[in-house]
Amino acid sequence: MAKNPKTKPLIASPDELLRTIFDYVGRIADERDIDQLLILLADMGRDLISADRCTVWLLNRKTKELWSKVAHGMDRIIIPVTAGIAGCVAMTGDSLIINDPYSDDRFDKDVDKKTGYHTRNILSLPINDGEGKIIGVFQAINKMPEPEKFSEQDLEHLLLAATYTGKALDAAILQEEIEATQREIIFTLAETGEMRSKETGYHVKRVAEFSRLFAVKYGMNEEEAELVKLSAPMHDIGKIAIPDSILLKPGKLTPEEWEIMQSHASLGYEMLKHSDRRLLKSAAIIANEHHEKWNGEGYPNGKKGEDIHIYGRITAMSDVFDALGNERVYKPAWELDRIVKLFKEEKGHQFDPKLVKVFLEGLDDFVKIKETYKDEPPVSER
Ligand code: C2E
Ligand code: SIN
Ligand code: SIN
Ligand code: FE
Ligand code: FE
Repeated sequence: MAKNPKTKPLIASPDELLRTIFDYVGRIADERDIDQLLILLADMGRDLISADRCTVWLLNRKTKELWSKVAHGMDRIIIPVTAGIAGCVAMTGDSLIINDPYSDDRFDKDVDKKTGYHTRNILSLPINDGEGKIIGVFQAINKMPEPEKFSEQDLEHLLLAATYTGKALDAAILQEEIEATQREIIFTLAETGEMRSKETGYHVKRVAEFSRLFAVKYGMNEEEAELVKLSAPMHDIGKIAIPDSILLKPGKLTPEEWEIMQSHASLGYEMLKHSDRRLLKSAAIIANEHHEKWNGEGYPNGKKGEDIHIYGRITAMSDVFDALGNERVYKPAWELDRIVKLFKEEKGHQFDPKLVKVFLEGLDDFVKIKETYKDEPPVSER
């Protein structure tokens, strides 16, 4: 089982959690081998909640067994679903936090006896597939450092990991094209990132759909348009590294803050560029180039005209269209007329003239997406 090499602070900040997840996401998305995937996911869970050990179990309904792979070079391990805490969770679908296992009948004390390990506490929760069916169990043992216990918050955090895990495993189990996993992870991750900057609900969805529409109207084939759609949500992933004090500042940024804010483009690129996967490569380009301007006055590299990748030019349009049409912490939402006026003015300046033409001619279709994925007003304003 994965051992925790160092003692971590007890409660990770949302920032640290996001970063932990992020550190793993690229590797998880790239992993085709289910055994390796199980080990990676377990490592992610362990790091998220400072557990000493973590195991991801998969349920085999036919044999009524749970199986896992806990270390490189070792065989898979198998237990019956009728035994132990993990089995109990797999059968009932209920999460369990057990801080006193030796006085719990469901706990199999023989395992400790055999291994010489002392189990102090257990956190165990079901992993569901897309349809809510239980496909496995996420199990963490011994909150570190001793004598800490698992909390409801740990459960929350592992639930978050289990959401990714369920999606990743589901795809692997079904032997689906691995890109299905990437899509899910990328989309969920992008949404998690957006949660921090307080952009609600459908923001990620809209930018994805606008970008797809631009791609199709620009003349790309369906497959490439789909690629643009799936990678566009990642354009602002670098904002994960921007502090809340800047990201959530209600007013104008100081020059120093603005400089830090701008770094989100190249930061996103640095995070994504290592992957060989087509989807992540495309996402890396988009992260890097979505604030470049047609006239060369954008950032981070001041690229100009068609030197800016078409994916970057497209996402820039989608991003600004959505940013203007919706409220931000630093600005109110704009009326459509005002947005259209800006795009006309910036044709050939900030934006690719051909894309502005496509946008103006297809305005109704863009507005349709905007209306379809309208955010609900916050509860306080209803
Ligand atoms: P964002 O809020 O998602 O905005 C994306 C892009 O939409 C902006 O990129 C800009 O091109 C366009 N945009 C948004 N609001 C306006 C506006 O009122 N007028 C015009 N002409 N364009 C607008 P940009 O400028 O590179 O900013 C990148 C990100 O930096 C923004 O993403 C936002 O998170 C942050 N940001 C920019 N200005 C401010 C600010 O004054 N205060 C705060 N707190 N954040 C800011
Ligand atoms: C969490 O705090 O559970 C996840 C991080 C976040 O949603 O910002
Ligand atoms: C965000 O501010 O988190 C994303 C908005 C966008 O630029 O698409
Ligand atoms: Fe951005
Ligand atoms: Fe943006």
